[in-house]
Amino acid sequence: MTTTITVLRGDGIGPEIMGATLHVLDTMRLGLAYEFADAGMTALEKHGELLPQATLDSIARNKIALKSPLTTPVGEGFSSINVELRKRFDLYANVRPAKSFPNTKSRFPMGVDLVTVRENTEGAYSAEGQETAADGQSAISVTRTSRKGSERIVRYAFDLARRTGRKKVTVVHKANILKSTSGLFLKVAREVAAQYPEIACNEMIVDNTCMQLVMKPEQFDVIVTTNLFGDIISDLCAGLVGGLGLAPGANIGEHAAIFEAVHGSAPDIAGKGIANPCALLLAAGQMLDHLGQPEQAARLRNAIVATLEAKDSLTPDLGGEGNTLSFAKAIASRL
Ligand code: NAI
Ligand code: MG
Repeated sequence: MTTTITVLRGDGIGPEIMGATLHVLDTMRLGLAYEFADAGMTALEKHGELLPQATLDSIARNKIALKSPLTTPVGEGFSSINVELRKRFDLYANVRPAKSFPNTKSRFPMGVDLVTVRENTEGAYSAEGQETAADGQSAISVTRTSRKGSERIVRYAFDLARRTGRKKVTVVHKANILKSTSGLFLKVAREVAAQYPEIACNEMIVDNTCMQLVMKPEQFDVIVTTNLFGDIISDLCAGLVGGLGLAPGANIGEHAAIFEAVHGSAPDIAGKGIANPCALLLAAGQMLDHLGQPEQAARLRNAIVATLEAKDSLTPDLGGEGNTLSFAKAIASRL
C-alpha cells in the first residue's frame, strides 16, 4: 500500500537536507509517495505568495507533511509561516523528543530520554492583545488558556506515555504566580492525570524545571506544558543532547500532522552541502511512528546512532569532515 505525503523542500539548507532525507527513506522501501509543494521564500518567488492555496490543499488531502525549514522574510505579511500552518490545521500538540546520542558535543552523551509535549495553539502565542501604549512607555500582551486547550494537550501527553511505555508525566507550570492561566492548566492537568492511574504524575514549577533539567535530566520522562514554557524548555532539552542538528519536532492535530526539524533554514551554510540532515531524518522517524510503523522508526534511529558511533562521514557541526549527502549515505548503508 502506498501512503502519499506532502513534502515541503523549504528554503536555505532545506532542499539539501530534504534530498538527503528522501534518499534514506527511499532506501528503506516504505511505500511512500511524495507530493511536492512550495512554501516560504521559494513559494514567494515562484507563485507570489508565501503559503499558496495548493500547498494547503495538499496538506489537507494527505494529512501528513514532511517539512524543511522555511525562511520568513522580515516585514512581509506573515509573522511566521510555521505559526500560520499550526493555526490553519489546528496542530495543537508540539512533540519534541530529546534522547542522548553518542559522539556529540553534548554534556549528556547518555542518560537523557525525554519528550516535551508543548501546547501549540494558545497561551502567549494566541496573537491577541499585543498592545503598546501611544506614549511607548508600557505594553500589554494577552495570554489565553482554555479548559479545552489544556485538556487535549495533557490528554495527548498521557496517551503518548501509555502508547510508548513511558512511566511518568511531569506537568510544568507557574501557577504560583500566573494564578488564572497557569492555574487553570494545572487544575485541568490534575483532573486528566487522575484518569491515568498507571502513569505517575508530578508537578514542577517552570524555573525549577530548568535547573533540574540541567542538573539531573534523567529524572524526566514526559513533560507537558503550555506554549511559551514548552518553546523554551524544548530548546533547552535539544541543547542537553547535542544541539539543533539533532532536534526533531512533530506538530500534531486531529486532521493533519507536520513533521520538521526544530532548526531554521541556516542561511549562513546554505548551498555548501554541509548541513546536518539528522534533525529532519529524526522527524521522519516521528512520522513513521505516527503512521503506525514503529519498527521502521526504530530502524531509522538505530542507523543514525550507529553512524554517530562509528563517526562515519559526520557533518562539520558534529566535528566531522563529511557532508550532507555522504552522511546520509553512511546512515543508509546501516539500515
Ligand atoms: P537557524 O536554526 O537557521 O541557524 C542557527 C545556527 O545553527 C546557524 O549557525 C546554522 O548554521 C546552524 N544550523 C542550523 N541547522 C543546522 C544543521 N542542520 N546543520 C548544521 N548547522 C545548522 O536559525 P536562524 O539563523 O535564527 O534562522 C534562519 C531562518 O530560519 C530565519 O528566516 C527563520 O525565520 C527561519 N526559521 C525557520 C524555522 C522553521 O521553518 N521551522 C525554525 C526556526 C527558524
Ligand atoms: Mg522555539
